[in-house]
Amino acid sequence: STVYLNGDWLAAEQAKVSVFDRGFLFADGIYEVVPVYSGKPFLLEQHLARLHRSLAALTIPSRPDPFWHDLITQLLERNAIADGLIYFQVTRGAEAQRSHLPQTELDPTIFASVSPMPVHWDIPAPAKVTLCEDIRWLRCDIKSISLLGNIMLKQVAQQRGALEPLLHRNGLITEGASSNYFAVKHGILYTAPADHLILPGITRMWVLELAKQLGLEVREEAFSATDLAQLDELFLTSSSREVQPIGQIDDIIIGAGRCGPVTAKLAEAFHASKQ
Ligand code: PDD
Repeated sequence: STVYLNGDWLAAEQAKVSVFDRGFLFADGIYEVVPVYSGKPFLLEQHLARLHRSLAALTIPSRPDPFWHDLITQLLERNAIADGLIYFQVTRGAEAQRSHLPQTELDPTIFASVSPMPVHWDIPAPAKVTLCEDIRWLRCDIKSISLLGNIMLKQVAQQRGALEPLLHRNGLITEGASSNYFAVKHGILYTAPADHLILPGITRMWVLELAKQLGLEVREEAFSATDLAQLDELFLTSSSREVQPIGQIDDIIIGAGRCGPVTAKLAEAFHASKQ
């Protein structure tokens, strides 16, 4: 594939970054993932707003929106991709030697790539999640490339035969390792509030909007881990998985293990909104 790195378009194997890049040494950087359907980036404005917010939180300078628009156009053209996932990564840049405190005035390292992703129009089969303590840091709202906690938790989930870990902090469900969650109980939709304990997912934001349009009652309140057995429905959201029904949390079966009606309604509304 053809990737973008600091102003150059290169074959992926040719793209090289300095060993003194602060992304490599300290994970001092952020990333963004944007889905593309039929050649059009989906909810791009919201993704760029989050990219700017993540960079601002780290005091790394961003580029104006037209820069990113042009980058996307070229990425899709050069890779002839109509349906896929765009990956952006910005690190603080490379410096002369390793030092925790960044030097001022570094040129950020900007990397972009795209990979094909078939558009799913069907609701995926319900998956299993496993409850795990959220061991990550307290600024999960920043889309940091430092993902050690997320990776360790994903590995635990894999060992337990689950698609994702369902994370809790002090007994309240926060999110998945690379997804947000929605719980349904007595027809009310619950999702954790967009505070510093979760990544404010763009898919989450869009599902909230669709739920309001459908007249569903929504509460941005974290669901309690002790109440999981009483859930009627549970699903995850992310740019790559869209709406993913959950039929099982460890040994607890949710909604007879089938995709529930609220989940199905929202998944269908989501699919329709992609056109
Ligand atoms: N992950 N929470 C976390 C911790 C995430 O990493 C992600 C996304 C989400 C969902 O956000 P969105 O709806 O904007 O994709 C929630 C991306 C896809 C990834 O790491 O590849």
